[in-house]
Amino acid sequence: MSNLTTTSAWKSLAEQAEIMKRKQMRDLFAADAQRFERFSATVNGILVDYSKNIVDQQSMDLLYSLAREAEVEQWRDRMFGGERINFTEDRAVLHVALRNRSDRAIMVDGQDVMPEVRHVLAKMEAFSTAVRDGTWVGFTGKLVKDVVNIGIGGSDLGPYMVTEALKPYGHPNLRVHFVSNVDGTHIAEVLKQCDPETTLFLVASKTFTTQETIANANTAKKWLLDALLDPTAVSMHFAALSTNTEKVREFGIDPENMFAFWDWVGGRYSLWSAIGLSIAIYVGMDHFMDLLEGAFVMDEHFRTAPLERNLPVTLALLGVWYNNFFGAQSHAILPYDQYLHRFPAYFQQGDMESNGKRVTRDGDVADYSTGPVIWGEPGTNGQHAFYQLIHQGTKLIPADFLAPAQSHNPLGKHHEILLSNFFAQTEALMRGKTEEEARRELEASGMDAKQVDLIAPHKVFPGNRPTNSILFPKLTPNTLGSLIAMYEHKIFVQGVIWRINSFDQWGVELGKQLANAILPELKDDQPLSGHDSSTNGLINHYKKIRR
Ligand code: F6P
Repeated sequence: MSNLTTTSAWKSLAEQAEIMKRKQMRDLFAADAQRFERFSATVNGILVDYSKNIVDQQSMDLLYSLAREAEVEQWRDRMFGGERINFTEDRAVLHVALRNRSDRAIMVDGQDVMPEVRHVLAKMEAFSTAVRDGTWVGFTGKLVKDVVNIGIGGSDLGPYMVTEALKPYGHPNLRVHFVSNVDGTHIAEVLKQCDPETTLFLVASKTFTTQETIANANTAKKWLLDALLDPTAVSMHFAALSTNTEKVREFGIDPENMFAFWDWVGGRYSLWSAIGLSIAIYVGMDHFMDLLEGAFVMDEHFRTAPLERNLPVTLALLGVWYNNFFGAQSHAILPYDQYLHRFPAYFQQGDMESNGKRVTRDGDVADYSTGPVIWGEPGTNGQHAFYQLIHQGTKLIPADFLAPAQSHNPLGKHHEILLSNFFAQTEALMRGKTEEEARRELEASGMDAKQVDLIAPHKVFPGNRPTNSILFPKLTPNTLGSLIAMYEHKIFVQGVIWRINSFDQWGVELGKQLANAILPELKDDQPLSGHDSSTNGLINHYKKIRR
């Protein structure tokens, strides 16, 4: 038995879950007129209503005890204090320093990192402003029209998600593109839309060794030089966002055009760093700073609010509740905002690369479930695709619903229709429809008794499907910053409770190693026999049909 499942909080929660599994949320609402007030909270204008969960006060109290027993507060303080909590890589975890808008020092190894953070922000401001106002021109003297971020994982998903989310704030004469996939189609399709004379490439890679990114960057460089025919053009069309100065220089990018960050910034937590340069160029440094400010407000809330009023902690505990005591395997993120269409994909990496771990800090194999599968699509599209399973399937899928009260595009009744769906879905998931209600409806439609018997079971909605509703005034840079930080800290808290290291990602290595071994084997048409029969068979078949 692991240390976690033998704690008193865990055992009490297991008993409490058995009690709560026999309860219906609609009864909990009927019995408590204050349920919404009791189980909702607002931070930086973001209202989180978690009353539509299968919990009562006793369940929540036990969950907060679990967080205390797991020493969430101490781990949080260790993170903010610059301790090397990413012990498998011997690194501090300080994305919070990137958005520290106070004059509080943040120390790593006895040194305040804030002066360096501010220095890079100032450099980003100067560069992004020059590109936006036309002071920065390309090799032939033309203004930049297209900015292409080349990166993958955290060096792509964050800036891509944010520039999509903040489109209303985008520069009218600039387009941003994101190339991540090593599939040549990705860069080919982007380059078709660009002109070498007016394109700026940002090569975003923490390590500057990532195979996909370096392959795409080399293709971009060749494309540029084939057109401009002068190697000195590179310094006017390429910038690097990286921690690896040597590799940046080796690639041929002027160190003047390098925007640094540090090993204490995890890839999936890096949009706040120089990796956010595409964001700063597209929406302007003032809006980028506002994004940081919003994250800072959430950081301060997370750092100082008592557990019982702490939103990231509360969301994390509810996730643990379903993951570990109700057998839920996944968690859906459902934004009712088209601008947030990459938000679920962003937190697929944020959550699954962080908490997709099976070995605890003590080196034991966890005998309990850890990070969930994260997935989702914007509403209302999801409603016409996969909500059927959430409403009537056999699986429990806890879901977050997010929506802005005000639209950036207030066209006719669109936003009211959108929001009516946002409200209705969580109500339907909570209430469900009993057999009696289904029968009454069918009878009222004039259906005969035999047909009613046949159809009624299919019209029953069991309800009791848990959701959080996250409602905010408008999707501004500030609000977006707070939302992202809220989820980041939720993931952190869950990792602490599950006793795993949320900040390494060794699980991506094996596939990389094997791909590196296979790549040279694909050079010629010789059949292979050194792998398992499936891998041999696939490669040999590929060799036969590739030309
Ligand atoms: O997928 C593994 C990973 O290391 C991610 O954590 C990271 O975001 C991505 O690769 C890209 O890494 P880099 O920024 O070093 O190119």
